[in-house]
Amino acid sequence: MAAVIGKDLDYAAQILNQGKLVSIPTETVYGLAANALDTNAVLSVFKAKNRPQFDPLIVHTHSLEAALKFAQIPKELLLIAEKVWPGPLTILAPKTEIINPIITSGSNLVAIRIPNHPLTLQLLKMLHFPLVAPSANPFGYVSPTTANHVFHNLANNIDYILDGGACKMGIESTIIGMDYDKIVINRLGSISNEQLAKLTSLPIIQKTNNNSNPAAPGMLDKHYSPKIRLNIVDDFETIDNIDNCAIIHFGKMERIAKHNLQLSAKKDIDEAAKNLFSLLRDLDHLPIEVGYIQLLPEVGLGKAINDRLKRAAQA
Ligand code: TXA
Ligand code: MG
Repeated sequence: MAAVIGKDLDYAAQILNQGKLVSIPTETVYGLAANALDTNAVLSVFKAKNRPQFDPLIVHTHSLEAALKFAQIPKELLLIAEKVWPGPLTILAPKTEIINPIITSGSNLVAIRIPNHPLTLQLLKMLHFPLVAPSANPFGYVSPTTANHVFHNLANNIDYILDGGACKMGIESTIIGMDYDKIVINRLGSISNEQLAKLTSLPIIQKTNNNSNPAAPGMLDKHYSPKIRLNIVDDFETIDNIDNCAIIHFGKMERIAKHNLQLSAKKDIDEAAKNLFSLLRDLDHLPIEVGYIQLLPEVGLGKAINDRLKRAAQA
């Protein structure tokens, strides 16, 4: 039976209590949620997404007090989390006994966050357990930022989609951990490097990820990919099949293609982040073979956007 879309928190809680899956809205992207303390429910999340079990899941909870039951968060990270949560920041810290290693793919570190969406926060408060929630997309595909995106991809694999409107930020949470006395960014996300630097006096380093780096599971080179080919170009003037492609613009349309999509007419990076995944999905509905885009300026969320674009464009 196809999933139902609605705003019924009691029904969402009931489904989750039965060990089944509900898609939840967050400020970043929609998640595919299940009871983190129910092994079978956790396993069915991997299955529904067709996600390999070596790619661990983020635990979502509603309060700092609850988070500390699941993760031993070092003081330095706690200071940052207190300033951002509820918000688009995920903390990597040693897990407590309660957290099943299936969630962390065997790692002794768990990823945890308090999402900032009124419906989901309320839902988390109604439940007696935290929720695991990866982005609610089939593994490798573009993350969903509306309830309809989730329905389109996973309608037959889940029971309920809690509709919280379009996600405010549009890019996943920033994931940080610690390496001795340094803050490590494991995944660029909706908290920009500039913002993070204002939240700590410790040095910040960025983890370089690649497919053979098991310390950073899931940060695969190819990810967030639409089905049609996405090409990153320096200059739209170099495109020669202009009548048979789409261009995703940022600001002034320097060159007009057959299909033209706009990240942000006023060149607002936050607006571009919000629109990005939806536009990448739109490409797949156009009668074209290739879409073109230019990298954005690396300020604010520009860095996280470019990270997603480079992975989306990997062959
Ligand atoms: O904004 C977000 O973080 C969204 C919303 C739904 O909260 N969630 C999300 O989850 O992006 P997911 O599963 O699509 O991406 C989580 C990333 C994966 O690349 C995974 O490898 C990494 O976090 N991760 C999770 N647990 C980890 C752990 N214990 N150690 C290292 N990496 C971890
Ligand atoms: Mg994901």
